[in-house]
Amino acid sequence: MSSQFPLSGFRIEAGKYTFRLLNGDDSDVVAYRDLRDRIRAGEGARYFADSFTREDANNKDENNRPREPAQVLALWRDWCTAKRKLCILGTFDNEKEGNKLIGIMMITAQGPSDSKIAEWEATWVEPGYRKTRIAGLTHSVAGLGYETVHALTRILGFEHAAVYIREGNVTSRTIREGQGFIRIGRHSVNDWGDGKTADADLLLLDLRTRPEAEHPDHWAISRLETTLESMGNEVPFLGDAIQHRIAALREGRTQSLWLGHDAAMRPAA
Ligand SMILES: CC(C)(COP(=O)(O)OP(=O)(O)OC[C@H]1O[C@@H](n2cnc3c(N)ncnc32)[C@H](O)[C@@H]1OP(=O)(O)O)[C@@H](O)C(=O)NCCC(=O)NCCS
Repeated sequence: MSSQFPLSGFRIEAGKYTFRLLNGDDSDVVAYRDLRDRIRAGEGARYFADSFTREDANNKDENNRPREPAQVLALWRDWCTAKRKLCILGTFDNEKEGNKLIGIMMITAQGPSDSKIAEWEATWVEPGYRKTRIAGLTHSVAGLGYETVHALTRILGFEHAAVYIREGNVTSRTIREGQGFIRIGRHSVNDWGDGKTADADLLLLDLRTRPEAEHPDHWAISRLETTLESMGNEVPFLGDAIQHRIAALREGRTQSLWLGHDAAMRPAA
């Protein structure tokens, strides 16, 4: 399957790092599963929810029974093979353990396979590589990953990116605000990797434009209206949330960027 996907061979070499799409080879599958297992067993479990749940379906069937080993391997190979429905950008440290996977960023189509909306999820950089500049470049390790994901998402024909961020994840929220994401609302999530129920903020970025600093609310309203128009009824949940957000912005009940908890996605009291 990988040979049919035009971006399969995509890679960037940057200093001692390689950024490339995972290709479903055994070594990629092993490295990816190992990293995700370590995230889930540690402090990272709290940041991710349904990506873990969907990955669990590679191991167990709908009745929660373990799958046959051959089927497990085939499902994981498919999961780690780049395609429009789901791509995983891996960051590798070429000087560590002969090429260690130290970061992942997933691009997942939302709704139908030709959807214009991508979710950016499962974003992770190993703690030892955070806030780390790449020698000779202006970007950090995470920063080049974000830029690459942005470019690949556009090349794949997506027009909007959605992210879900757990309440309290200030680092991710601040970075996404800086990238121009608009917060659409908040909802409760009950399958976080640490077993807890907690709210997630849904943020949306129109990949076709850059934010206008002077009139962020006007900019946000016009972008959200265009977004709503172009996405039609692809993902009704997102459409409803955007309509709530536009109404709140128009009535001055909220502001375009993150200003703390508000009621945009909750039914009016
Ligand atoms: C989220 C995560 C990948 C970010 O990695 P990081 O190393 O902490 O991020 P960096 O500080 O290098 O920042 C990444 C980019 O955002 C930019 N950035 C950081 N803070 C910013 C801010 N306040 N405003 C604007 N841009 C900001 C950085 O400048 C950098 O871009 P650059 O390369 O163009 O300079 C990492 O912290 C992580 O793995 N966290 C745990 C998992 C997680 O929270 N995942 C997201 C779940 S929603």
